[in-house]
Amino acid sequence: MTLRKKFLAQCERSIDTFVERLQPGREDFPIVPRGIWTSEAFALCAFIEMQNIDMLFESGIYRGQSTWIVASYFNQLPIASVDIKLQQAAIDRLSPFSNVTLSEGDGAEFLLKALRENPEKRIAVVIDGPKNEAALELAGQCLDEGAVFAGLHDTDRSKSVRPPLDEGFVFVATDDPEFVSAYGFLDEGKWDKGLEEGRGRFPYQKIKDYKAYEELECYGPTLSMLTRRKSTLDVIWEKTLGPIVDRVPETTEKKLYQPKLPVHAIR
Ligand SMILES: C[S@@+](CC[C@H](N)C(=O)[O-])C[C@H]1O[C@@H](n2cnc3c(N)ncnc32)[C@H](O)[C@@H]1O
Repeated sequence: MTLRKKFLAQCERSIDTFVERLQPGREDFPIVPRGIWTSEAFALCAFIEMQNIDMLFESGIYRGQSTWIVASYFNQLPIASVDIKLQQAAIDRLSPFSNVTLSEGDGAEFLLKALRENPEKRIAVVIDGPKNEAALELAGQCLDEGAVFAGLHDTDRSKSVRPPLDEGFVFVATDDPEFVSAYGFLDEGKWDKGLEEGRGRFPYQKIKDYKAYEELECYGPTLSMLTRRKSTLDVIWEKTLGPIVDRVPETTEKKLYQPKLPVHAIR
């Protein structure tokens, strides 16, 4: 099975637990400006489960939305997060979690040191600051240092970092059409909040339907999960059988997530 298919299969296994634990869409579900989207955090949780991760190291906390969602999903996973300027709001919000430690400092130094100090662990990193080329370079360095995967935020198709990401790495991204159509419902509150804040510009504009996704060719800020640098074999595979195998459905029936909870409880 390809990485993409494994990831989508894992999402199907993880979604009910995610909805039960987080209850996204409830009135008091926190929506944080500049924070990760709920579907992206869900993808991260599913990927962590799929890869049997022992420890998560994160760079870029801001007010702690990504940290809070992952820590709410995994109460046993050690999570160590760093921000160049740690905010009191994040300290307050994340203080209930005994598995989360927060630090202030440079993310590149922090992540690379963590990987070098824990060679026997299966470590994932998430980079949501620094951004752009610096973030991609850091993600590559983390993979070279043995990270099982590197999550990279703000990698939608309008970003200059996307072409080198496409060319250089094996990854899955949350703008995958199948992922969007199955799990985009998790972000409904985010769209509404964006409109309230007067952010008409993509990605905060209301793009609920698939047609809009096709026109824009991207969805949300986009979290990509990179597992390795591309080899020549990966490139050959992608230019030949890969895209065909990847798009063949596992079953003839189109699988869309059917929430077990009543719709009003999650929307
Ligand atoms: C978009 S915010 C992170 C949002 C957060 N992940 C969430 O989901 O709520 C980016 C954060 O990265 C931090 N940052 C920027 N450059 C950094 C660096 N080199 N090392 C660590 N943090 C950095 C910024 O201070 C900011 O708080």
